[in-house]
Amino acid sequence: MTERTDPRGAAASDERRPPQGDDASRGDGAVRSSLPRTGTGSATGKVILFGEHAVVYGQPAIAVPVAALTVQADVTAAADVSTLDSALYTGPIADVPARLRPTAVALDAALAALGTPDAPVFLRIRSDVPAERGVGSSAAVAAAVVGAVADLLGIRLDAERHHELVQVAERAAHGTPSGLDARAVRAPGPIWFRNGAVEPLAVASPLVFVIADTGVPGQTGDAVAAVRAQRVADPDATDRRIATLGGLADAARADLAGGDAASLGRHMTQAHAELGALGVGHPALDALADAALAAGALGAKLTGGGRGGCLIALASDADHAELLARALRDAGAADVWTTTVPAASVDAQPNTSVEKTE
Ligand code: PMV
Repeated sequence: MTERTDPRGAAASDERRPPQGDDASRGDGAVRSSLPRTGTGSATGKVILFGEHAVVYGQPAIAVPVAALTVQADVTAAADVSTLDSALYTGPIADVPARLRPTAVALDAALAALGTPDAPVFLRIRSDVPAERGVGSSAAVAAAVVGAVADLLGIRLDAERHHELVQVAERAAHGTPSGLDARAVRAPGPIWFRNGAVEPLAVASPLVFVIADTGVPGQTGDAVAAVRAQRVADPDATDRRIATLGGLADAARADLAGGDAASLGRHMTQAHAELGALGVGHPALDALADAALAAGALGAKLTGGGRGGCLIALASDADHAELLARALRDAGAADVWTTTVPAASVDAQPNTSVEKTE
């Protein structure tokens, strides 16, 4: 849960503020003038360690929030038409380009669900989560927008209601989202996800990951459709691969709980090969994986939808991560981040930390 200071100076969070019910909105599309002038919401990026694609077919997955890649959304009541101010587009929300439709859908869904369906607003988004790179940009933006609308209306959203509204936008972004991204971008630490259910994961010893951007836009929707098509064309082999990916997530859970980084890395590299065989790899991802392994990574795999986007490699420690980051840059990575997942019991889940590697 994100805590912040609201525009009136009081600490506020979308789950801690007292619900204001009918006091908060008239339900007639008008935002009351007594409401705070600006609602704010935030969420983080994420990486999927195991189970992308397989999770769509009921297999388990492991994801980690990336705390320093953040999205912040501010919503202000406006006089006439709703407008968006973002790095990708500024103008009327009715005219947003196709890639920003999910953001408009998140805004509409939140306003409608919270009782102000036609309220004109000014929405400002600031994000350092790169879009179309498999690090959760669409879910993080939707989660921040939903949080901001709830904050504007003074409504406390429980985690399930918030999740459902983010999922409305995720469906607009890529059809049949498993819900993994929507959970991970608001999680305080590593999560285990299966069939919509989420639980925190134990991590016995800290892990240092290097995330490298191929610079090639990932296409999650296309990649998910390609797996679906392959399942129709060759059901037995495809289902075997999906089950193997689920088995690797199971094994990784044990690696995390037991502090076995070498085994975790081997399982990552196996998952990369299985995902490639599933049709969601990319030569640029393979080149970065080869470079990471040649530089001594314990394992390397694509993360997220694939067909571009990012690679994640496991370093032996922080010094090795610096070396890996250099090797990945030399191999052509467009951007590189180093992320530390601290040791955590399931009761105490600190955020991951991340540093951008220049
Ligand atoms: O590319 P991303 O970060 O949106 O991740 C997608 C993960 C998939 O498993 C491929 C799809 C899903 O809905 O879980």
